[in-house]
Amino acid sequence: MTTVIKNGTIVTADLTYKADVLVEGGRITAIGPDLKGDETLDATGCYVMPGGIDPHTHLEMPFMGTYSSDDFESGTRAALAGGTTMVVDFALPSPGQGLLDALKMWDNKSTRANCDYSFHMAVTWWGEQVFDEMPRVVARGINTFKHFMAYKGALMVNDDEMFAAFRRCAEIGAIPLVHAENGDVVAELQAKLLAEGNNGPEAHAYSRPAEVEGEATNRAIMIADMAGVPLYVVHVSSEDAHEAIRRARSLGRRVWGEPLIQHLTLDDSEYRHPDWDHAARRVMSPPFRDRKHQDSLWAGLASGSLSVVATDHCAFTTEQKRYGLGDFTRIPNGTGGLEDRMPMLWTHGVNTGRLTMNEFVAATSTNSAKILNMYPRKGAILVGADADIVVWDPKKSKTITAATQQSAIDYNVFEGKEVTGLPRFTLTRGKVAIHDGEVRTEEGHGQFVAREPSGAVNKALSTWKELTAPRKVERSGIPASGV
Ligand code: URP
Ligand code: ZN
Ligand code: ZN
Ligand code: ZN
Repeated sequence: MTTVIKNGTIVTADLTYKADVLVEGGRITAIGPDLKGDETLDATGCYVMPGGIDPHTHLEMPFMGTYSSDDFESGTRAALAGGTTMVVDFALPSPGQGLLDALKMWDNKSTRANCDYSFHMAVTWWGEQVFDEMPRVVARGINTFKHFMAYKGALMVNDDEMFAAFRRCAEIGAIPLVHAENGDVVAELQAKLLAEGNNGPEAHAYSRPAEVEGEATNRAIMIADMAGVPLYVVHVSSEDAHEAIRRARSLGRRVWGEPLIQHLTLDDSEYRHPDWDHAARRVMSPPFRDRKHQDSLWAGLASGSLSVVATDHCAFTTEQKRYGLGDFTRIPNGTGGLEDRMPMLWTHGVNTGRLTMNEFVAATSTNSAKILNMYPRKGAILVGADADIVVWDPKKSKTITAATQQSAIDYNVFEGKEVTGLPRFTLTRGKVAIHDGEVRTEEGHGQFVAREPSGAVNKALSTWKELTAPRKVERSGIPASGV
């Protein structure tokens, strides 16, 4: 059984050209004019692009006394409906739990996935077991390790632990990721706000000013540099954090920044909404920011100082958000976005001229595939690549609403937003999962994507660090003492 995508324009991270695409056995087998297949998908007027890769999701995540409500089934269904064909989720060991043990739990959850997926492993505590298991996690195809600098008393690690884990990453060819917020300062500000009677969702934003993010981002960059390892900063939401990344990159440091579609398009006025539910549904860390930060993030995508756009999809229902009535620190942190990332970025990026189509593909797919070391199997329209493809109709419009979304929750933070640019077809390893608005996903179709360690940037950086390492000065004579 072969499928041919006909009459479309292929758009990749570096090329735009007219050609048909032939798919067989889950892979792209030919690209060129006048191809024939058993099944034809008409892409007239559409762009044929690598399916989106969301490098940052939390499906069925145990967090703040509950579980995020989109699991690997509904989460990947939402992803496919919005043109995303792969997610990278986080395996999170609880304190004292082994990494391999946690991985088993995430292996079990992910059997229901409708599209391919991979994992990052979180380092949520430090000890000999974690040190010993890190290379075994790498052997299982996971080359990225996440560190939370916030969530004190839960997921947070301190600087000494982070430095030790970063050095271990350098040894084993892995890349550390950081959630960069100063968790000590956040905890102090939370206590102060609560003591003053400031207990509503808006206080969540007050407790996490851009400075806590800027400080932690800069600290993580310096620690990574001293450990001799590249660094990936997740959910960059502010100019303060972006400035630290931009500066580091201009000095030749190997740092990538990941803004979220939420921070690019929503601002902190959401927290001043008179309806408690409205504001609490938008509680996430870092919080939505003043508009001036949005301009900085867009500029970073255009200039290349920021690399990928993610969602951090971590969806809680209104009922779950209400755990924090009377105490904002108990509102489960997280928002959804899997179905909306690509249409929102196209609408607010490509349609406004802030991004080219090729930059859109780079930010939503190709750059993640390269950084996470799975390119060109993923993130490419090339012969031999997995047939993870979105046929994008730039004229198709809709109004985003929870009433028609795939996500399991009862609201959408983008409710009422008009988008123009939507998938006509989404293919996951050759299977047509979205067909002109019809959902044809197949639970369990998704497969784990193993990612090799020691990618090109790790190799280059370790070569440079070795070459420039401090060395003992060999001296010919030692002066006699007491002279
Ligand atoms: O608020 C957020 N971002 N929730 C998900 C966990 C995390 O920090 O990424
Ligand atoms: Zn985070
Ligand atoms: Zn996250
Ligand atoms: Zn299948």
